[in-house]
Amino acid sequence: MTNQPSNLEAQLLALRQEGEKAIAAADSLELLEELRVSYLGKKGQLGALLRSMGQMSAEERPKIGAIANTVKESLQTSLDQQRAALESVKIQAQLEAETLDVTMPGIFRPQGRIHPLNGIIDRALDIFVGMGYTVAEGPEMETDYYNFEALNTPPDHPARDMQDTFYLPDGNLLRTHTSSVQIRYMEKEEPPIRVVAPGRVYRRDNVDATHSAVFHQIELLAIDEGLTFTDLKGTIKVFLQEIFGELPIRFRASYFPFTEPSAEVDLQWNGRWLEVMGCGMVDPNVLKAVGYDPEIYTGFAAGFGVERFAMVLHQIDDIRRLYASDLRFLQQF
Ligand code: DAH
Repeated sequence: MTNQPSNLEAQLLALRQEGEKAIAAADSLELLEELRVSYLGKKGQLGALLRSMGQMSAEERPKIGAIANTVKESLQTSLDQQRAALESVKIQAQLEAETLDVTMPGIFRPQGRIHPLNGIIDRALDIFVGMGYTVAEGPEMETDYYNFEALNTPPDHPARDMQDTFYLPDGNLLRTHTSSVQIRYMEKEEPPIRVVAPGRVYRRDNVDATHSAVFHQIELLAIDEGLTFTDLKGTIKVFLQEIFGELPIRFRASYFPFTEPSAEVDLQWNGRWLEVMGCGMVDPNVLKAVGYDPEIYTGFAAGFGVERFAMVLHQIDDIRRLYASDLRFLQQF
């Protein structure tokens, strides 16, 4: 069946009207593409209409052809406009969906602090390193030899009573003091020696406000030709004043198996003398134990408890607070 030219013109114009209405109503890019195919595609409605023209006179043909072109162009323009409109709506929606709300609360990450014990250790090591000392460490599980014997404390020595510790089935023990590092370090190195050794130590003590079965010490050792008690006093004085400020200190005669003479150092703190460390000139027997000639070398040593320093410095009333990991306590430092 062939179509009449006049009829065809009306159908083209109707197609345009219907198409423009459908395009304007399209609410998605997918639907719009379907409409484009349906109207202007190879097998689309416009093509179908034109094919139905059949035989047309040479006079009618250009006229209908021109109308068909304007229909095609105006449908294409409508498609383009609607596509642009839908794309901008889509971008707008995307922008809104991705908007950052800068007033939203962030993720709170609490700031960490240096534990008061580590704070003391850091400061002490800093001061001694500043005086030319090297930092060394030794094992917490020790042999009887390094913890006692080489430090002039044989098995029957009464000083052992004050340092009862935990013994392991193989006869080894948990070190009672960092003084064991003195021996290990001297065995490895040759004089002159300047070494500072922090670490954990153990005692078989009942835990209370001032005692803990595990605590920390810092050990000091200097070996050289011609070192005297004056060098010991000067070193300790500078160190204590760096930590506690310009306070009166005194050296009080005492006894340790590994030093001769030995002293305890007191610090005047809030009107009272507080004992803060032990020290002395290294006993010749200790030098002999590591093969140093005591006729050539002398030295001094000292040791102190880190918890004690922290408690005095920060007015902490119970040693157990230092191990409780209670943030209300730790955040104060
Ligand atoms: N080791 C001793 C203690 O644990 C402390 C000490 C005293 C260390 C005198 C020393 C020293 O190096 O010379 O109580």
